[in-house]
Amino acid sequence: MMNLNGEHDRETELPIIAFDKVSKTYSTGTKAITNLSLKINKGEFVFIVGSSGSGKSTLIKLLLKEIEPSEGNIFVNGKELTRLRRSQIPKHRRGIGVVFQDFRLLKDRNVFENVAFAQRVIQEPIRSIKRKVPSILAEVGLSEKMQVLPKQLSGGEQQRVALARALVNNPVILLADEPTGNLDPKNSWEIMNLLEEVNKKGTTVVIVTHNREIVDAMQKRVITMNKGVLISDETKGGYSYEG
Ligand SMILES: Nc1ncnc2c1ncn2[C@@H]1O[C@H](COP(=O)(O)OP(=O)(O)OP(=O)(O)O)[C@@H](O)[C@H]1O
Ligand SMILES: [Mg+2]
Repeated sequence: MMNLNGEHDRETELPIIAFDKVSKTYSTGTKAITNLSLKINKGEFVFIVGSSGSGKSTLIKLLLKEIEPSEGNIFVNGKELTRLRRSQIPKHRRGIGVVFQDFRLLKDRNVFENVAFAQRVIQEPIRSIKRKVPSILAEVGLSEKMQVLPKQLSGGEQQRVALARALVNNPVILLADEPTGNLDPKNSWEIMNLLEEVNKKGTTVVIVTHNREIVDAMQKRVITMNKGVLISDETKGGYSYEG
């Protein structure tokens, strides 16, 4: 739903992601997240920023149900994650594409196979794989590199393969944990521009980043974490964390 300014109205819309009073204490005793409440609506583009150790990656892992909250509830697409049955977890994860700082490509598989792998896992028919993989690789500008191994690509190209792999199963949510952490400014902008295009087609995009220049320039929603606590949430924010 839009408000009169043509902006999404966070109060009335059904969130695709909701944290309700979530805390996470690791087994070591480290309190990574404290009493976090947060809603993200379908189709939003959100940056999560904050100093090292502020709980950003923990938040991503909670969303993927790689770890469990110590307190509170997390809802993704209307489903409360602690109540998902084991058999429902693969479907939950398929709805979320993920991109990491270190690309995490299969070293001994070419570009096509790295992207096709995500489709084989969900047992897509070969015919559909042969159609979808080249199409998504074209979207990220890698049509010419389908037969090449990851080590023969630049960092920016490797990240675009990772992005294609994250998108090939049409996720509703795309999570990126420092996707530009290993990239130079030009490649960083290329990845951000692709993420913005993905968002324009309707995917909810959540990006953890330390890239101040990009956050300040893009004028998106910015959530700032500090020592596990959400300290600011701005609709058209900047990178306000100092240090
Ligand atoms: N598996 C774990 N076991 C114990 N403590 C952990 C674990 N993972 C993270 N932590 C701790 O939890 C806190 C939050 O870590 P997290 O990785 O979420 O931070 P971050 O905001 O992603 O930091 P960075 O910007 O450096 O990636 C840190 O104090 C970290 O040391
Ligand atoms: Mg992190």
